[in-house]
Amino acid sequence: MLQISKPGFADYQCNNAMSLFSSLQGSATNFRNPRTIGQAILNNLPASDIVESASVAGPGYVNIVISSDWIAQRIQDMLIYGIKTWAPTLPVKRALFDFSSPNIAKEMHVGHIRSTILGDTLARMFEFANIEVLRRNHVGDWGTQFGMLIEYLFEQFPNWEEAGNQAIGDLQSFYKASQAKFEDEGSGFKAKAQQAVVRLQQGEERYQAAWKKICQISRTEFESVYKRLGVELEEKGERFYNPYIPLVLEELTNKGLVKDDKGARVIFTEGQRSPLIVVKRDGGFNYASTDLAALWYQFNVEKAEWIVYLTDVGQKQHFHKIFSAATMTGWLPDENEQRYPKTTHVGFGLVLGLDGTRFRTRCSEVVRLVDLLDEAKSKCKAQLIEHLTENEKIAGWTDDELDRISEAIGLGAVKYADLKNNRLTNYTFSFEKMPSDKGNSAVYLQYAHARICSIIQKANKDIEELKTKAAITFVHADERALGLHLIRFQE
Ligand code: ARG
Repeated sequence: MLQISKPGFADYQCNNAMSLFSSLQGSATNFRNPRTIGQAILNNLPASDIVESASVAGPGYVNIVISSDWIAQRIQDMLIYGIKTWAPTLPVKRALFDFSSPNIAKEMHVGHIRSTILGDTLARMFEFANIEVLRRNHVGDWGTQFGMLIEYLFEQFPNWEEAGNQAIGDLQSFYKASQAKFEDEGSGFKAKAQQAVVRLQQGEERYQAAWKKICQISRTEFESVYKRLGVELEEKGERFYNPYIPLVLEELTNKGLVKDDKGARVIFTEGQRSPLIVVKRDGGFNYASTDLAALWYQFNVEKAEWIVYLTDVGQKQHFHKIFSAATMTGWLPDENEQRYPKTTHVGFGLVLGLDGTRFRTRCSEVVRLVDLLDEAKSKCKAQLIEHLTENEKIAGWTDDELDRISEAIGLGAVKYADLKNNRLTNYTFSFEKMPSDKGNSAVYLQYAHARICSIIQKANKDIEELKTKAAITFVHADERALGLHLIRFQE
């Protein structure tokens, strides 16, 4: 196998000599040790303009240095023929990314913004590779909490049908208040809320309309965040898959997978201590039954060949169980057989505040996504203004320019914080560190990008000629390293 080598040794390294030698053990062979095999590989390398030099190192590694001219030529080709020619080829035509997926009216935490940013980034990479991506927002828009929310809406806003979203205000406070009332045993509210769930599920018009209204208020808020972040999503919430659950459970039951467990209906999956509950003891469906129905729908109706979920690592077990159940049912091939269709859970760590606990903004207990973006922006704006007073050059900026630039830097910082940190570990988020203009930060990249744009602008019409006539050569070792890094995009 050819691997990317440690910097300083070579560009690539082939380590087959060692395993080949051990498989020859006991048979008559001229090879005295792995190194002699490495030497034989080296001697038989076909001539190629890709390879600058090759050598054998240590116990038998074949080290390969790629020709600098060849690297430069690839980059020149990209300039001439366009970045699209670098798109990797994957064996799937349609993939589904389930990301962002917040819950209607419930708290939207920073985890949802991480999911949004990571999901959008991966989706963009797949789209670049010419794969059709279904960008799915699996919002939590169904469940018993809606009985309470609807009943509360009726009580507090008798004119809810005419009332604008503004009148109902912040849905999270609304949620909290309705919850408080639900828990207040004396009020008789609980019984009404439970009645409301039944009436909603039976499809009674007034209840459906109230449900729609509540979802719409949340949706408007989510959409403002997506718009600011430049993220596109198509909503198909839990409610959408609800009608498919009975059919899917019937299939699983017929295949003998669904068992009775203390009154609940469950699926036991390999290597998991607790089973996957698919029908609650009260007969209701849940998160898992919805995900099974969604998976069935996405494979069978939407014909997705690869389904990717982005949630925090806390949901790893859940998805593991769903995937096992899907394999047991035969929807997914066994791991070692043909590989598609397939499912992947892309988990991520928590975002922590400077005090080491779950990140919160200063104004509220829960971090609303909008608040986070606003705070990032206003912090950047404050810093910019500070610079403005010191730096004559940018003193002429208009308010509008200042605003647009703060938004770009602030949001860039939020996005980049998610992308530069290890996906799986928790990371500490600090507004103070965000606008750093040194090294590995968003604003540094944005600055470099702006400068490049300015160079291109100055080159004006010469640029087309430069692309084809000016040959790229690497002068500094860093340039070669960058070139090599760029052409590895496919890998
Ligand atoms: N709504 C869930 C949450 O906020 C995330 C949903 C992820 N997608 C899924 N198909 N389960 O935790």
